Order: sequence, then C-alpha cells, then structure tokens
Amino acid sequence: MDRLEIKPAQRLSGETSVAADKSISHRLAMIAAVAEGVTTIHNFAESVDCQSTLECLRNLGVHVERDGSTVTIHGRGLHGLERSSRVLDAGNSGTTVRLMSGLLAGSPFETTFVGDESLSRRPMKRIIEPLRQFGAAIEARDGNYLPLRIRGSNLDAINFTLPIPSAQVKSCVLLAGLQARGVTKVHEPVVSRNHTEIALAQFGARIRNMANTIEVKGGGTLRGKEFSVPGDPSAAAFFIAAALAVPNSGLRLTGIGLNPTRTGYISLLVKMQARVAITRLSVVNGESIGDVGVEASEIEGMDIGGSWIPNIIDEIPVLAVLGTRSQNGIRIRDAAELRAKESDRIHSVAKNLRALGADVEEYPDGLFVPGGQRLHGGVVDSFGDHRIAMAFAVAGLFADGPVAIQNPDCVNISFPGFFDLLSRVRE
Ligand code: S3P
Repeated sequence: MDRLEIKPAQRLSGETSVAADKSISHRLAMIAAVAEGVTTIHNFAESVDCQSTLECLRNLGVHVERDGSTVTIHGRGLHGLERSSRVLDAGNSGTTVRLMSGLLAGSPFETTFVGDESLSRRPMKRIIEPLRQFGAAIEARDGNYLPLRIRGSNLDAINFTLPIPSAQVKSCVLLAGLQARGVTKVHEPVVSRNHTEIALAQFGARIRNMANTIEVKGGGTLRGKEFSVPGDPSAAAFFIAAALAVPNSGLRLTGIGLNPTRTGYISLLVKMQARVAITRLSVVNGESIGDVGVEASEIEGMDIGGSWIPNIIDEIPVLAVLGTRSQNGIRIRDAAELRAKESDRIHSVAKNLRALGADVEEYPDGLFVPGGQRLHGGVVDSFGDHRIAMAFAVAGLFADGPVAIQNPDCVNISFPGFFDLLSRVRE
C-alpha cells in the first residue's frame, strides 16, 4: 500500500489486546537457541523484526517450529550454533543484529550480518568495541556499519560501562558474557529495559542484577522451558495516546507488559493528569503484566529528560504528537539517540507535525511541541519507520481533517494488524 488515510474519530471504546512484546520475543528465541532442551513460547510476536530473528536462528542450525502464535525452539546448547552457509539478514531489526552478535562472539566460526537500508545506516561500533574486548574478531563497513563480520572465539569476561544507555548494547554484552571465561560485569549509569536479565534468570543462568550493575558468570547450562509473552507496552502506547486524545473515549488494553523499565510513558502521563489505570497486575515468567484502562483526558504537558529517556525511548514520537493536545506543551531533551533509530525520529516527528500545521522546535537532542495546537489534515511520511507511521495514525484520529500516511506498511515491523485493530476500536 502506498498511502493510507486516517479519518478523525468520534471516540474509541472497547477492550483489546495489542501486539506481543517484540523485545521479549527476540530475547526468548535467542536464549532458547543456546539452552538445552525445548522452549515453547506462547504469544510470540508476529512482527517482521522477530521473524528476522527466527530466520537468522534457523540459518544457524536451530530447529524452530511455529504453530499460530506459539513458537517452539529446540535448543542447541551454549556452544551449539552452527556456521551459516549464507549471510544473516537482520532486515530492519537492530535488536536482531546487536543481540545476536553477542551470541555469535563465542561461536568459533565466521558470520556476516546484513540488513535493510535503514539498519545499514545505524551505528554498530557500540557493540563492536565491547565484543573486541571479549576477544572476538569483528569488522564493519567504516568500522561502524553493516555488513558486520564476526569471527567468534574463546572469550574472556570483561568489565564494561555502557557509554550510552542502551538495552541492546547491554544485552549484547550479557549474551557474550554467558559464553566467556569468568564473570562479566556490566555497569549502566542509567537503567534501561531489563528483559535480558529476567529471561536469563528464567533459563537458569548465573546472573545477578544489582541496581546499576549486572553480573553474569560464563559457562553453565541453560534449561529450556515454557513462556508466555505479554502485550508490548510500546504498542499499547499508541492506543493509550489515541484514547486520551479523542474526546469521550474509554479503552481497556489487556495483558500488557508492565515491567517497570518500560512503564515510564504511563507514569509520565499520569503525572500529567491523564486518566490511566492499571488493574489485574501479576507476574508471569518474571515479567509484570496487567490491564491498562484509559479515558479521554486533558494532559498538562511537561519537560522530560535525563533518566526518563531510556524508559520511554520508543514512545517519544507518539508523546510528541500528544504534546499538541497538552495544555503547556511537551519538551524532550537528552534524547539524541532518537536520531539513530529506524529513522531520525526527531526530524521525522518535527517534519510531520509541521505538515499538519503544528509549531515544533527541534533541538539536537530533542524537541519542544507547544500545547493547545489544533492539527489540520494533510499528508505525512512514515519515513519507513513503524513508530512514526503509528504515531501519525493517532494524529489522524484527532486532527481536524484526514491524515494520509505515505508508506504505512512499515507498521508490520512491530505491529502487524495495527490499522485493523484501530478500525475496530474507533467510531
Ligand atoms: C530495544 C532497545 C531500545 C529500543 C528498541 C528495542 C531492545 O534500543 O529503542 O526498540 O529490545 O533492547 P537501544 O537499546 O538502542 O536504546
């Protein structure tokens, strides 16, 4: 599809689940591949990114079965991956290439990763440096970009302080540490999502999670087991924003992952007086899960930066869109990382908001979206970026006229069926 038009909505209502968590699905599949025995993962993400991970694992000799949304992985043990006869294509998925590079750093053969145009522009030096410290040989185009060639070997544990808050880099180091001699220590000045730590503990890895430092002991045996993946809070974020912004809405999102390293978006909205409530909270496979109820609300707006940013990194585009509806505007700082995502998300958001008649101030590390602005209809670009397409679908629901999104199919990267689901809950 070249273009999709989203018309203004009367209200959103009803109850729905959302796409399964992409971050957790990637991790469970990868760790299962190096565990002993069989792992069954229910509600595995159908996102194209997670399919990239499964396909790469198959090329590394892992037997993967899929029955509806249940994925079964036959683990090959810690050093059991096999050399792939072809290059591994990570598609659009940074998580696939960055985490799997950690797994492959300890595998004694050569692997080459390629990806699509967007992924080929994204920085890889951040994982190359720690993996070299472990002892892996790794090369990249201009030292920083795909194609990435890894020659794995015997690794020695490292002490590593993350120069930027990044769960992908942290996870890469932990997965390499799993295969290294000794205890690998990762220090993260700002806490980022901790799904890798949780999943490793679930599989029986010797891992200790202490405030900002994580330790993993290499060797040992991981054991396959049964998992169920919660709904992705970053997918829920679009429906939360839509229900807040469209008057008279009331929506209930069920089975949403509520790991505290991912709930910054909800916390900030509540601070801004949004009517968002969590119910039926429980813990499944070490991950918090619950329902999220949302009612249309006026939000105050605020300045957001510092340690909030890693927790809300994927929600910033939709938060910025919501900023137009706030009383005082939303200002984001300390988020230069947004420029290294699937698109330059600061630029993509600012350009699209302006195309809908909004004022936006762009900073090198963020943006300011003044409040109390009405959006008019218009044409926006997804920039091939799933979160930009979904953020501006939300804008279309509360703009004064229809919003046409160019290249909307990229939503499949994290949320196949997003537009159908949106049509189901809107009037
Ligand atoms: C992810 C971490 C974040 C996030 C991405 C998924 C993960 O990236 O933006 O969508 O699954 O670890 P960084 O770790 O690069 O910030």
